[in-house]
Amino acid sequence: MGVDSLGYMALKVSKLDAWRALLEQVFGMEPRERDGAIDYRIDSYHHRLTLTLDTTDSVEAIGWEVGTSEKLAALVDRLKGLGVAVVEEGPALRAQRKVKELYSFTCPMIGNRQELYYGPLISNTPFAPSRGISGYKTGTLGLGHVVYWVKDLAASVKFYQDVMGFAISDYIAWDDNDAVFMHCNKRHHTLALMQDGPNTPAGELMHLMVEANSYDDVGYGYDLVRDMGIPVMIEPGKHSNDHMQSFYLQTPSGFWLEYGYGGLEIGPDWEIRNYDAPMLWGHRFVGG
Ligand SMILES: [Fe+2]
Repeated sequence: MGVDSLGYMALKVSKLDAWRALLEQVFGMEPRERDGAIDYRIDSYHHRLTLTLDTTDSVEAIGWEVGTSEKLAALVDRLKGLGVAVVEEGPALRAQRKVKELYSFTCPMIGNRQELYYGPLISNTPFAPSRGISGYKTGTLGLGHVVYWVKDLAASVKFYQDVMGFAISDYIAWDDNDAVFMHCNKRHHTLALMQDGPNTPAGELMHLMVEANSYDDVGYGYDLVRDMGIPVMIEPGKHSNDHMQSFYLQTPSGFWLEYGYGGLEIGPDWEIRNYDAPMLWGHRFVGG
């Protein structure tokens, strides 16, 4: 039951040129321009990210992929049963997202716009990266993972377990903050939720992680980020829970992007753990 992977993310951005430089020169993503927006391809899917020029910056939507129409209908029914207003999207947005069936709702926990779909469009031509990278680890693992701050952590975790079909991977507690990591496929976590704070408002995206097929992709990316003057927020390091080797940069919209390699895949015999730090080594906050 529930969602099967993180499928896509659509962003409204005010600094389109800076975003283009980041996604094409650093991340090697393949632009597909259309009227008023740029879709970015990173694998066999038509696209995984969309940038739309706007006056302000926001995450327009995150898209959850569901494997079949029947599972999608069951999930929509479950949301409606809780009183969540779910909208069946018409042909115009379906054509933009390149999916067969599409629904949208405002998450009652995070407060953001979320979309549910099945039937993504697959391209028959190979992904043509903008720089020499080995590509991205996606497939059934999905686009990557997202981390959000929420007002009510316990209720949010329960919602993502009982309604959206996630299971807890583990917890990390540090500096009086709690993070709960959750999976919906073999990727160690597709969603993590953290308690909000004075400078970390509920509903804001903390970061999106994308996973490279090689550590060299990440290493060359790190050099490019430094050379281009893009702010590094967390230095290279290795996470305690999913063993992702990664670094974090600040996007032109403010939220962070984690560029990682080597994340754990987990199976049905996974045992939930509780870590006292997010890193094994490295991952020093810049300036901290
Ligand atoms: Fe992450």
